Amino acid sequence: MTKQVLMLAGDGIGPEIVAEAQKVLNLLNERMSLGLVFDHALVGGAAIDATGGPLPEETMAKARGADAILLGAVGGPKWDALEMAIRPEKGLLGLRSGLELFGNLRPAILYPQLADASSLKPEIVAGLDILIVRELTGGIYFGQPRGVRTLENGERQGFNTYVYSESEIRRIGHVAFEAARKRGGKLCSIDKANVLEVTVLWREIMNDLAKEYPDVQLSHMYVDNAAMQLVKAPKQFDVLVTGNMFGDILSDEAAMLTGSIGMLPSASLNAEGKGMYEPCHGSAPDIAGQGIANPLATILSAAMMLRYSLQMEAPAQKIEQAVSVVLDQGFRTADIYSEGMKKVGTAEMGEAVVAALNELI
Ligand code: IPM
Ligand code: MG
Repeated sequence: MTKQVLMLAGDGIGPEIVAEAQKVLNLLNERMSLGLVFDHALVGGAAIDATGGPLPEETMAKARGADAILLGAVGGPKWDALEMAIRPEKGLLGLRSGLELFGNLRPAILYPQLADASSLKPEIVAGLDILIVRELTGGIYFGQPRGVRTLENGERQGFNTYVYSESEIRRIGHVAFEAARKRGGKLCSIDKANVLEVTVLWREIMNDLAKEYPDVQLSHMYVDNAAMQLVKAPKQFDVLVTGNMFGDILSDEAAMLTGSIGMLPSASLNAEGKGMYEPCHGSAPDIAGQGIANPLATILSAAMMLRYSLQMEAPAQKIEQAVSVVLDQGFRTADIYSEGMKKVGTAEMGEAVVAALNELI
């Protein structure tokens, strides 16, 4: 049986890092007969240049037809002046909402080999293994009304709407409780219930759901405190669940605990487990085209894709082991480099993973 995988390279470093994930997947496909069939399509700035819009109908159709999607990154200064509705980021947001990929899993795991690369003291981050569950298709990112209007006095006013319906909170809550149940059994829900009504409802629903999960210990934290606790004592957390915007911010913060945002994969899932997989970092236009970006977050995203959408646990683990092996071997891209290690570029890192994988399968 074959599985259709759509590769969306996107912009900036996207094509460079996706190319390395492709090498890894090709090797597994060949050696372990996974039956993966790859297709490619345009999204983001690349799609704007070719078609005038960030999410062409053809891309959306291929995305709907695929069993899983691997995406690089979108956006860059070239398209920054465009109006909001046709910016590259709208391509990504359109995929997320069009495919109802509401459940975003962002694991932040510190590879012991990289304890020195974190900006925090090794004892604070050693052994770190947390999971951020971010709601991805609602909240202030998608709330209506939104825009910039001109008031009667001639002054302009920008506005967005922070809105969550009960069903949206419930479904992301279930994802988070289920994840906590399979991990350390602790779930911390992040809100701003001291100020925002929408998160008062969020907290109420999480408390309600907790009754269905007596084996999971639920706690609540305001987002400002959570931002502080993440750098003060991150190991107190197991699973965190939060809305779209808080999750965006906290996941970048959590990424840095692991040494580099270049290490963090993510999965965005719909109710049926279909998903899009992407590194948590962006298109990094400042280093695009130089061959120095870290491909590991994308390679680890490919592992998540095999695990969550394609039910291929064994090859997923092989990828994760291979990443650990190359770190043991001392290979480091610039973002995770420390004295005495072997500094390599994007392609060399990808090839090192392929070589390690070759030994493991
Ligand atoms: C992320 C990114 C995106 C987001 C951008 C590129 C739209 O920052 O995936 O975290 O804000 O969700
Ligand atoms: Mg982000």
